[in-house]
Amino acid sequence: MPIEIKPLTPCIGARLTGIDVRRLLTSDEVRAIDAAMDRHAVLVLPDQDITDEQQLAFTRNFGELEEGANSTVRNSELRLAPAFADVSNLDRDGSKLARDHKRRMSSLGNRLWHSDASFRAVPAQYSILSGRIVPERGPNTEFADMRAAYDALDARTKAEIEDLVCEHSLIYSRGQLGFTEFLPDERVAMRPVRQRLVRTHPNTHAKSLFLGSHIGAIVGWPRPEAMAFIRDLMEHATQPEFVYVHKWTQGDLVMWDNRTTMHRVRRFDDLNVVRDVRRTTVRGDGPTAAQDAA
Ligand SMILES: [Fe+2]
Repeated sequence: MPIEIKPLTPCIGARLTGIDVRRLLTSDEVRAIDAAMDRHAVLVLPDQDITDEQQLAFTRNFGELEEGANSTVRNSELRLAPAFADVSNLDRDGSKLARDHKRRMSSLGNRLWHSDASFRAVPAQYSILSGRIVPERGPNTEFADMRAAYDALDARTKAEIEDLVCEHSLIYSRGQLGFTEFLPDERVAMRPVRQRLVRTHPNTHAKSLFLGSHIGAIVGWPRPEAMAFIRDLMEHATQPEFVYVHKWTQGDLVMWDNRTTMHRVRRFDDLNVVRDVRRTTVRGDGPTAAQDAA
């Protein structure tokens, strides 16, 4: 079956058919997906009824897996293998997370715009999200094109931000929601990391904004001025013209390039309705900025 790619908006997102994720991909197929990712940044592969093993094998086509993606969950509490980020609302016994469950509190941070693992010195490349049980009434996942957002800035702003470096941490994003319950060892693991505000894509050489709710500082700037500016940039970058809204159908496999996009999930009735979505992540190929020597 030939690969077919249909754009979903003028700038971001495409629907890709003609690939069966359950079997081994040829190198031509992997190259075609990479090329489509470079162009569209978000790909939707419908009707992919896959197992965890098939999802892992598919993910490995694109690079090294990011392990330990469940940043705030201990291994003994995991429902899925550690290579998965469990984005469901289920605990390890398969029942829905209670309203005040710590994992639920923490995962509410996914409702804020972010790029996966930007709080790690080596941030994520691709995220691959499999919709195993998808509620009929949402939630949607929204994706913002950070290349289009960068391109739309005026020349003065582009020059001003070219070499800025931000500090990212889960403590900042969770803190925005008032979630501050971290254990001492979690706080150490969540030390802020530095990321360039403007990234250049290694294949396309397109520049993009590297933003997200994990940002809590701009190096060298007074904090309130930094956060007011980041808020302006986030508002600019998430205008509807830069956004693709994905309405999930069960069996969708959605993959996105975290280097050129931000995303967020919307609110849904998670106390009463099961949503089982499982993410694998391809590790990025290096840091975007030198880390603080301290
Ligand atoms: Fe995410």
